[in-house]
Amino acid sequence: MASRSALVNGWLMATVIATTTLVSAVAADRTGTAGNSAPQPSQLPKVMQIKLDHAQAVLQALALEDYAALERHATELGALTKTAAWGVLKTPEYRRHSEDFLRETDNLAAAARAGDLTGATLDYAAMTVRCVQCHRHVKGVRAAD
Ligand code: HEC
Repeated sequence: MASRSALVNGWLMATVIATTTLVSAVAADRTGTAGNSAPQPSQLPKVMQIKLDHAQAVLQALALEDYAALERHATELGALTKTAAWGVLKTPEYRRHSEDFLRETDNLAAAARAGDLTGATLDYAAMTVRCVQCHRHVKGVRAAD
């Protein structure tokens, strides 16, 4: 029993580290490409920065097993997708990415309500994958302009 829980803990920690790296990569990617030829809009919606803050707060809440904070930040992340500023692109695919992302934040909030730390950690990882997928889509569309 003890070894099984040690295994789960080790796995959870590895997942958290992997997703932290991913989220940092999302942020670093932005700075890294700032000097490139692709023109960056000067007025990036503030909602994108708020999104990153909430995502980092979710990671903190996971690490501290703070279910109330977890649910709050997951819910606020989901709510952001419904703001006008979120709608950067009007393509059906962008809408689909937004819906996929919203589904993961809903799952995350539900796992937080259920006090399911392992489930919430998996949902966090799945949500982070959605961050990356949507950014890749946005870059692809921009590159085609
Ligand atoms: C449905 C699409 C979509 C999803 C999902 C998404 N983003 Fe974004 N993100 C964007 C768009 C669009 C931009 C702005 C790109 C641009 O205008 O050049 C952006 C920009 C950003 C930026 C740069 C902001 C700035 O100030 O330059 C960060 C950081 C970011 N997103 C973090 C995240 C994180 C973290 C997640 C997941 C929790 C996430 N995003 C999920 C679409 C998305």
